[in-house]
Amino acid sequence: MTDKIILTGIKPTGTPHLGNYVGALKPLIEMANENKTFIFIADLHALNTMKNPSDIRLHTYEIAAMMIALGLNLNNAVLFRQSDILPIYQLSNFLMNVTPKGLMNRAHSYKAMVEKNTDAGIDVDSGVNMGLYTYPILMAADILLYDSDIVPVGADQKQHVEFARDIAGYFNNTYGETFKMPEPVIGKINGIIPGLDGRKMSKSYDNTIPVFAPESELKKKIMRIITDSKLPEEPKDPDTSTIFQLYQHFASESEINDLREKFVRGGMGYGDAKKILFEKINSVLAESREKYNYLMSHTDEIDKILSDGAARANAVAEKTIARVKKAMLG
Ligand code: TYM
Repeated sequence: MTDKIILTGIKPTGTPHLGNYVGALKPLIEMANENKTFIFIADLHALNTMKNPSDIRLHTYEIAAMMIALGLNLNNAVLFRQSDILPIYQLSNFLMNVTPKGLMNRAHSYKAMVEKNTDAGIDVDSGVNMGLYTYPILMAADILLYDSDIVPVGADQKQHVEFARDIAGYFNNTYGETFKMPEPVIGKINGIIPGLDGRKMSKSYDNTIPVFAPESELKKKIMRIITDSKLPEEPKDPDTSTIFQLYQHFASESEINDLREKFVRGGMGYGDAKKILFEKINSVLAESREKYNYLMSHTDEIDKILSDGAARANAVAEKTIARVKKAMLG
């Protein structure tokens, strides 16, 4: 056990996919064996796009069930729902006052909306609500509320963790040392897990492979991975192949070298490579999938774990809020 505090969140905006699993959750579950860990379902962060409460509820259960089924160590790990923690609303509001507006203007997701609107010749802020605009402040509040040292995330979230550091710095400069500086830890290899079409695996591109898809669906999805048109006998480049990139996260060192060799040598069609990938992922996830299915039909067990987590998280959060109030309001 180290004295580092680990924290991460995942939005309940869709069924959790292999990008979430490899990019953030698998490393997190490993770290949670050694460290005090906070992991929460970021339902407040979902609100700027999700307007249907029953979808949020379903995906919240799915994420919680996934974490439990994957063997999250619930002694070290505090698993909870973001919206159950009242101090998060308070801290987020306090941090607004030390966060420059210009910092928010530079956030990738806001900038992407502005660019899209500019290209379409419409108002730059069209479709931008304040939940989206202030998203990084809420995320900084998440990170700073629990004195996190390490924030394991996929590469797409790195800027948000850097903003949390910036905001902690503005706060500490104004009010004295109050917050720790968190460090982002990016998932191994290149940090971005490709989806079925080779772009970043993302709910918004509709190119995901759900972690606990039933076996037949998992197979169907994997067989749909887009490849180039190389013939079976031709040598192939493993490093630009979605099949190979996904395989690396599930197979052992020697299995990875084996498949690399088959790509480079030629003689293996993409259909066969996909079968190898399917067999591997399926065997790694089969046992947890059963647990997951059990939990999804016993959501009262999930509720109990989440409310226990909320009590433990609140105890820490209330202390931080008391510290912040004292620093800001005397
Ligand atoms: P979210 O819900 O989009 O994704 C959850 C985690 O999965 C990672 N991830 C990926 N990693 C690699 N390749 C991919 N294709 C891929 N897709 C998703 C994400 O980087 C993330 O780590 N804003 C966050 C949630 C959040 C949070 C926090 C995270 C709220 N507060 C505080 C850390 C700390 C988000 O939208 O993640």
